[in-house]
Amino acid sequence: MSSKQVVLITGSSTGFGRLFTETLARNGHTVFATMRDPGGRNAKNASEIRALAEKESLPIHVLEMDVTDEASVGRAVDAAVAKAGRIDVAINNAGYYLSGLEEAVTTEQAERLMDTNFLGPVRVNRAVLPHMRRQRSGVIMHVSSGAGRVVVPSAGFYCASKFALEALAEAYSYELAGQGIESVILQPGQYETPVFGNTVTAADQARTDTYGAAKEIPAKINGALSSTAGNAQDVADAVLRIIETPAGEKQLRYFISPQNFGLNEINALCKQVQTNMLEAFGLAEDTKFRKGKAAGAV
Ligand SMILES: NC(=O)c1ccc[n+]([C@@H]2O[C@H](COP(=O)([O-])OP(=O)(O)OC[C@H]3O[C@@H](n4cnc5c(N)ncnc54)[C@H](OP(=O)(O)O)[C@@H]3O)[C@@H](O)[C@H]2O)c1
Repeated sequence: MSSKQVVLITGSSTGFGRLFTETLARNGHTVFATMRDPGGRNAKNASEIRALAEKESLPIHVLEMDVTDEASVGRAVDAAVAKAGRIDVAINNAGYYLSGLEEAVTTEQAERLMDTNFLGPVRVNRAVLPHMRRQRSGVIMHVSSGAGRVVVPSAGFYCASKFALEALAEAYSYELAGQGIESVILQPGQYETPVFGNTVTAADQARTDTYGAAKEIPAKINGALSSTAGNAQDVADAVLRIIETPAGEKQLRYFISPQNFGLNEINALCKQVQTNMLEAFGLAEDTKFRKGKAAGAV
């Protein structure tokens, strides 16, 4: 694989996705910056990105992609492959935060959150993996969260969406290693992006109102998160380092955060338990990374 890679990013209109786009492209990587509705609601963001690419001669291509729409995901991946001939890295970044007491979150709100934060990466991975498996190389990256390992009250559904994403990403890492493909999980702590302004609030206010003192929890958590948020460029710099780490040498999980409650210890313990399980089930060899070699895969 060339050291300069072809990278597809979801949710590139703002925040992390926008910074990943700019940081990776400034370092010579070709970026397909995908977003919802670049001709409408994101027209200003899309034209700013295109103007930056023009001004700095950066290899950035803006494409439309709504991760909740399988046809839209397929169109963007096909367009990227038609243009660049390959996809080396897919960054599943699109997502949003849902805040509120769990009982006050409606079923419809929960479904919508999972449709974006969890099923979005399912759709993207299913679209890019046939290309990566043909190439016998690639990276699927998953933007989880510290809240993909630690449970935050009033963020139960968000945590559930990221815990689900972590489970899927880890299972992928075992199944794809033999074909030279890496699955990587990024666990950012709280960082300054538009995420707080884009937060969806639990809709059932009548239930929230019956919770006494506990109904103050969401505001306390949101205040604590936004007042301690770090510089989001640190996360983009970490993503650059990860994708430039040689194939087979990447970690499964990267925790990057302005605050540390001991997540690396959870990751280390889980890694040991997972290794024990794989050995006990006779899967240690089957789940080892093999550069460019397919173990019976078509
Ligand atoms: N900032 C943090 O503290 C933090 C910490 C841990 C994890 N994260 C995760 O980081 C990721 C990016 O968030 P951010 O902090 O950069 O916030 P953000 O600026 O709000 O970015 C979220 C992005 O996701 C996009 N998006 C939402 N639904 C989408 C859909 N159906 N299809 C395509 N794109 C969609 C948004 O696009 P539109 O412009 O179209 O709405 C936006 O570009 C999320 O997965 C979030 O959970 C953030």
